[in-house]
Amino acid sequence: MQQPPDAQNEKIKREFQRIFAAEGRIHVVRAPGRVNLIGEHTDYNDGFVFPMAIEPEVRLACRSRDDGMVRIASTAFPGELAEFSVNEKIVPGDPKWANYSKGVVAELIMAGIPLPGMDALMSNTLPVGGGLSSSAAIELATAHAMLTLAGLTMDPGRLALLCQKAEHEYAGAPVGIMDQTIVASGRAGHAMLLDCRDLSKQFVPLDPNELRVVIANSMVKHELTGGEYAQRRRQCEEAVAHFRQSDPSIRALRDVNLKQIEEAKGKLSDVVWRRARHVVTENARATAFASKIGLKKYEEAGELMVQSHHSLRDDYEVSIPELDFLAAEAMNVKGVYGARMTGGGFGGCIVALTQPRAVEHLAGHLARTYEATFARLPNVFVTTATQGASVLK
Ligand code: GLA
Repeated sequence: MQQPPDAQNEKIKREFQRIFAAEGRIHVVRAPGRVNLIGEHTDYNDGFVFPMAIEPEVRLACRSRDDGMVRIASTAFPGELAEFSVNEKIVPGDPKWANYSKGVVAELIMAGIPLPGMDALMSNTLPVGGGLSSSAAIELATAHAMLTLAGLTMDPGRLALLCQKAEHEYAGAPVGIMDQTIVASGRAGHAMLLDCRDLSKQFVPLDPNELRVVIANSMVKHELTGGEYAQRRRQCEEAVAHFRQSDPSIRALRDVNLKQIEEAKGKLSDVVWRRARHVVTENARATAFASKIGLKKYEEAGELMVQSHHSLRDDYEVSIPELDFLAAEAMNVKGVYGARMTGGGFGGCIVALTQPRAVEHLAGHLARTYEATFARLPNVFVTTATQGASVLK
């Protein structure tokens, strides 16, 4: 059961004091995870995404130090302590989980922000490697902690870009801007249609009387640093180079339409052509989905989720049998509008959009069928859209 926020704060503060001693003012910040409803692998193609921030989160208790040392502990890795100094060059290393935080501290310093030292304890209700953006949550929580201790604030859009850069340079994951943006700027009760070219946002309410968002974790861990993600980015760039030959105004796959894709068949390698087709069709699906949700046309929205999954499975090839299974089985439950894999792929979760009354049946059905086929239980839970990263006290 979820504890009330104050009880969670007291718990993390007590644990903090046990690790780092009792005296001095402790601040607590939080950063949520995210689930992407649709618009997958479109963000680094200047396209559209439609994520929401979710309740599972990273919570961080922190206290400033006057010697410039940063010491970070994590309840997920008991006994390990990451240590570095704001006065020396910060380099990635071990423990690996601390590289996201190291990167953020380094980027804040490079942005000219004077930072004190910090003792910090991170505690995570987000599954690490679960494809719900635990890395962006760690980044944004670290940024809020450091800024709070420095007595400063920063525009969430700028913070998202800074955290994305930290992930590129310190964790070696060439991610797009979706995760950091939604984790920084999510709005309770809403999903966000983000234009990843100009970074403009449109918030769309999700009616709690009519909809539930259900996540099922396949319990297969995913990694964005394994090479497949970077390879997909390169394939998209290869496609762009082809389209630019006939139209130099094309800067990204965002600028390519379906007719151009059809015309390019046979002129690009089959793999690169399918990658491009996924991105172009997925962009159209993401914007259409946002307006269907706004119009409460849930069946039609759900159909777009199913198409998205098929495109990710067949054209973009980032799904795995476990995710295919969960997405297909979800659609066998009455009252489920749509289901698809969510996030980068190669593991992680599916997301389903359902009627409220379908939730229990869906959870039971997925647990039963998945366990019978893959001999492990999925973690199935309902979530609502929450606020982006914030300082609690
Ligand atoms: C990961 C990345 C995002 C995005 C998704 C795929 O979550 O962090 O930037 O590219 O994969 O949509």
